[in-house]
Amino acid sequence: MKREFNDLSGKIRELKKKRDAIILVHNYQLPEVQDVADYRGDSLELSRIAAKTEAKVIIFCGVHFMAETASILCPDKKVIMPDVNAGCPMANMINAEQLRKLKKEHPKAVVVGYVNTSAEVKAELDVCCTSTNAVAVVNALIKEEEIIFVPDKYLADYVSKHTHKKLISWNGFCPTHVKILPEDIKREKKFHPQAKVMVHPECLPQVVALADEVLSTSKMCQFAKETSAKEIIVGTEVGLIYRLKKDNPAKEFYPASEAAVCPNMKRATQEKILWALEELKEEVEVPDSIRLRARKAIDRMLQIV
Ligand code: 13P
Ligand code: SF4
Repeated sequence: MKREFNDLSGKIRELKKKRDAIILVHNYQLPEVQDVADYRGDSLELSRIAAKTEAKVIIFCGVHFMAETASILCPDKKVIMPDVNAGCPMANMINAEQLRKLKKEHPKAVVVGYVNTSAEVKAELDVCCTSTNAVAVVNALIKEEEIIFVPDKYLADYVSKHTHKKLISWNGFCPTHVKILPEDIKREKKFHPQAKVMVHPECLPQVVALADEVLSTSKMCQFAKETSAKEIIVGTEVGLIYRLKKDNPAKEFYPASEAAVCPNMKRATQEKILWALEELKEEVEVPDSIRLRARKAIDRMLQIV
């Protein structure tokens, strides 16, 4: 994932101070982008940092729904994406109209939505969740008989198995994580018999079944630090390997599949971050009519966890 580039980190640091900006970076971003981060993290951590920051400007290096979530939580801040075309194909698999139709078909159901959804879809949810807390959020819904869970059918499958609740799911999935196949895990286990296997819950159920740990990206970073295992097979987007290696130089990390690349997560570069700081563009804003309803679903999640 290393590419030739002009190191602009000095200029970025200087301009960041002038603009009173912080740079938030998802764990899948290019190494050159991770290297200029004020904070790296998973979807939940980045939202929490966005909610707390005193900075006036947030440069968000991730995909569109993540920047929208930051904007929902801090409407008084300028949330800027270095490349506003970085979308999440899974989030785009359901829109507000489709969800409203599903809700009509199940009028008594409570609606849980993965954070990988647009702001418009979040506005239709009762409660939001992330890969870190999806099981805890669904478990907290004690009385609800019917639960709609959108958009990831594989995360829904994982949550259902761990909560013993039947979920009405949507036919969404992550095109990157489905590239990791059970054969990949079996092959890597054969090559590295001592290695632990950690995978993201967006993976296929047959892949999840072969894992020692099923974790969000930041929980993977935590597990890698804390485990006594010296070798780990990593079943998620390959960008995470850079951080894992940097944080744990004495350990070995093997990507389950080199094919697991999310092109949208590679759109931000140091050049684009510098432009974003110079021009203060492209801003991601959510109109109040949607923001206030979406905020309720996020706040309910934060109360639960
Ligand atoms: P995390 O919240 O685990 O970082 O996952 C976000 C994502 O988009 C996974 O594909
Ligand atoms: Fe979306 Fe998958 Fe990319 Fe994550 S890895 S941003 S879920 S497409």
